[in-house]
Parts: sequence; C-alpha cells; structure tokens
Amino acid sequence: MTEVEKIVNRIKSNMTSTDHTQDQVTQMEKSTSDICPICNGTGWELNKETRAYKRCKCYKKEKMQRLWKKYGVDPKDIKKLNDYVPIDEIQKEAKGKAVDYVKDFETIVGNKENGFGLFGQPGAGKTHILLAIGAALISKGIEVVYMPYVEVMRELKATVMDNEYYIKFSSNYMKARVLIIDDLFKDKLKNGNLVGELKESDIKHLYPILNYRYLNNLPTLISTECTPDILQRLDDAQAGRMLERCGDNIIVFTGQKYNYRMKKFMR
Ligand SMILES: Nc1ncnc2c1ncn2[C@@H]1O[C@H](COP(=O)(O)OP(=O)(O)OP(=O)(O)O)[C@@H](O)[C@H]1O
Ligand SMILES: [Mg+2]
Ligand SMILES: [Zn+2]
Repeated sequence: MTEVEKIVNRIKSNMTSTDHTQDQVTQMEKSTSDICPICNGTGWELNKETRAYKRCKCYKKEKMQRLWKKYGVDPKDIKKLNDYVPIDEIQKEAKGKAVDYVKDFETIVGNKENGFGLFGQPGAGKTHILLAIGAALISKGIEVVYMPYVEVMRELKATVMDNEYYIKFSSNYMKARVLIIDDLFKDKLKNGNLVGELKESDIKHLYPILNYRYLNNLPTLISTECTPDILQRLDDAQAGRMLERCGDNIIVFTGQKYNYRMKKFMR
C-alpha cells in the first residue's frame, strides 16, 4: 500500500491524523447529501489505471472557501455589481470596467495587463466592486482568493516562526489563480495622508507575494486608499509594476462626495 493510499484509508476509517484534521472537520460540517461523489469526501481522487492519487477538484474549492470565510466573507452572499449604483461618470466607468473584466476574463488573463486597481476615497465602493468581481469569477468556476491586507499581514508576521505553516499560508496568496488584495497599505495612511513608510516586514512578507505574481503574470485585483501618487512615494518601482499590470483598469476616486457611508449626512 502506498503512503497516499494509507492516508486515504485512514481518513475513510475516520481516525485522527494531524495532517488531515482540517479535511475531516470540513467533511463533518457537511451533510451526507453534499459529499463529493468523485472522491467520496476524502479529497483524494484515484486514477484507476495508474493507481495514483491526486487532489480532487472539490479540495481546491473548499480550501478557497475556507480562506474567504476565515475573514468573515462568504462569496455566496456578498453584494453584486448590480447593487452598485453609480452617482457619476467615474463610478459608472468603474462599474463598466468591472462588468467587462468579468465578461472578458478568459481573454484578459492571457494579457500582461490583467490586473484591476481601485484607488482613493474611503466609502467609494472599492471593496464592494472587487468582491463582486471575485464572486462573479468564482461562479464561473475560477479560483479567487481574498486577501484583506491588514489581517493577512498580521497573520504572516505572527506565524513566521512556524516555517511549514508560513510557507503554506503565504503560498495561498502567492499562487492563487486570481488574488484580491483589499486595503493595501492601509497601515501607511491616515486621513488620506502618508504617515508611514515601507518597513522591513512589508518587504519580507508582502513583496514575495507581489513579486511571484508579477513574474508569473497572475492577475491581482487591488483596492487601496492610496492614490497612485502616494503608492509611487512609498515605492516607485513596485508601484510602477502594479499600475503597469492594471493597464486601463484603474479608477481613482477623489473627494468626499464618493463616500457612500456619509451619504445620509450630506443631503
Ligand atoms: N455607488 C454605490 N452604490 C451602492 N452601494 C455603494 C456605492 N458605493 C458604496 N456603496 C456601499 O457603501 C459601503 C462602503 O463601500 P466600500 O466598503 O466598498 O468602500 P471602500 O471604497 O472599500 O472604502 P474603504 O476605503 O474604507 O475600504 C458598502 O456597503 C458599499 O456596498
Ligand atoms: Mg474597502
Ligand atoms: Zn472530491
């Protein structure tokens, strides 16, 4: 019996195994009706000819959902692009670009300019639009990983001593088919002004993710309160790469009028 066959048998017989506890937890949370028919809920699919096991596609899907739910977001019940009601030409343009991005994703992904960037004013709907794009791509069967910048950076910093976990955790973001980085560099700004600079920890934890994605031409969707100008002041070279990859899919919201959260106070 191969090592993998042993593992599969162990899961099937429901014994505890530290490596696969998460698989089991996920399985136990599910009712029998939605257990994957391909792998019987083991997460491993057997090739009958070669007798080799590989990860079942349900495993990737579940892993992706875990990464969203970990930060309190369920891709199934987030606001849609249709719920975004533009107040002017800029917001109309943002919505239009988002709709086209989803529609033409299969073509766009092969281009160098396959990113998407929303900049500026808090409350303008940057997160709303990016999450809506993410959910729409997921429903097309595309793997999208959500990375709330502050929370994920905190976890990366906290787990750096646990080498094995760190590498696994970081590579979720590095290698995601599509990555949404929400509120990039939030810790560097206060009221729209630059109050911090890049730290050694940013270079250590964030840059490997950005660099890997850049070199492998993987699409990254970014929301940030920074303006492109502030990004450039933080790090000219990295900002240049990010903006370059977004091509025309860049929107900058400038001014309080875009702050949806303040709407009820501004009549
Ligand atoms: N044009 C709009 N139509 C409908 N809802 C909107 C619009 N703009 C913003 N909202 C809503 O306003 C709230 C704030 O938007 P969101 O969190 O996406 O803003 P943000 O630009 O990401 O802000 P921050 O920089 O603070 O993260 C959300 O509930 C969002 O759905
Ligand atoms: Mg936001
Ligand atoms: Zn399966």
